[in-house]
Amino acid sequence: MDHFQYRDGQLCAEAVPLARIAEAVGTPFYCYSTATLERHYRVFAEAVAELPATVCFAVKANPNIAVIRTLARLGAGADVVSGGEMMKALEAGVPAERIVFSGVGKTRGEMALALKAGIMQINVESEPELAVLDQVARELGVIAPIAVRVNPDVDAKTHRKITTGKSENKFGIDWTSAREFHARAAAFAGLRIAGLSVHIGSQLRKLEPFREAFARVREMVLTLREDGHAIETIDFGGGLGIPYGDDADDMTSPGPQDYAAVVKAATDDLGCRLIFEPGRVIVGNAGVLVTRVLYVKHGATRRFAIVDAAMNDLMRPALYDAYHAIVPITEPPAGTGIVETDVVGPVCETGDTFGVKRPLPEAGADELLAIRSAGAYGASMSSTYNTRPLIPEVLVRDDAFAVIRPRLSVEEMIAQEAYPDWLG
Ligand code: LLP
Repeated sequence: MDHFQYRDGQLCAEAVPLARIAEAVGTPFYCYSTATLERHYRVFAEAVAELPATVCFAVKANPNIAVIRTLARLGAGADVVSGGEMMKALEAGVPAERIVFSGVGKTRGEMALALKAGIMQINVESEPELAVLDQVARELGVIAPIAVRVNPDVDAKTHRKITTGKSENKFGIDWTSAREFHARAAAFAGLRIAGLSVHIGSQLRKLEPFREAFARVREMVLTLREDGHAIETIDFGGGLGIPYGDDADDMTSPGPQDYAAVVKAATDDLGCRLIFEPGRVIVGNAGVLVTRVLYVKHGATRRFAIVDAAMNDLMRPALYDAYHAIVPITEPPAGTGIVETDVVGPVCETGDTFGVKRPLPEAGADELLAIRSAGAYGASMSSTYNTRPLIPEVLVRDDAFAVIRPRLSVEEMIAQEAYPDWLG
């Protein structure tokens, strides 16, 4: 459930009509609902409450410091994949001991930052990374707590570009060499093996891949313990999917409770501390992208609504053919003609399409539309392609709203660039 509902015919974020925000900040903009963020975090945290768990919000899904702080105040930790995300999490008030650092390509500088901050755990994904981390830790005179990310070779049955747990993917340590890898890791004086980690992909809408992967992790914990490694934590990564309104079985697909039951079955008797890194399931449906129709154009075979948002603002449809529900901000009164419309942006690429053949009211230019489920991997993946300034992010709480990132101006963009001497 989210808090974007029509009230008196106007789509609102909690008690604030989105049209009012549009008037104040212009379009396009991202809008997030505090009540939805809090609700989704709580549902997840409560589902895993009886397990010894730390919930580390995957910052990459939405790295705005106000969003992170909203979750941190409820007790969330953070899963970060760069020094930048780590600095944001710390700035937003996440305690270092609730931060895990994931990713296949950490730099020495990022490792040093993590070790100086004293974060909970660094998830290691390759042999050369072990050696570099050991060296950085010893230079700083500390011991790095690590978890080895294993690749369980399980098909997550999600989009191929966000599948991470197959043997052909770049992630984790190959399942079959995990024992030797741990033996080598244990020999480094600057490292301490704290646990095991796994993440098989994102937007998983079935439990089976999790069940399969977690059973393998369980076996691996037992084997590694037999080998003499004290495996104290298991990091299950993120990946639980959300309804985007495109699949027929939306209502029956698993939620945090079902996911927690799978985890519990795999770990009940292990006595491990568990770490979760949910991203999308917390923020995905807590955000919308509001855009204005600039023109309506009738092509030979299609009706196009050309909007002022573009693929640079929300890449998911262009990148993954992702479906996002698109709704008008003014609820169409009964009897309004509904026509199939392609919602497209102004960029000169056919991929700049938010939705094809969507049932939308006949009304045309100036209408405001909300592209739903845009809270995760929306603003965080946006760019300035076409010299389009980054758009504002707005956070709503009850009847109040605040700009949590202003619109960048073209002047600011130009000021960041410079002429070399010979062009001066
Ligand atoms: N932990 C690790 C190690 C990850 O790589 C990810 C996401 C997460 C946690 C959070 O996964 P989530 O709970 O959000 O599924 N840009 C893509 C999604 C990329 C996900 C990358 N890794 C999209 O827009 O669908």
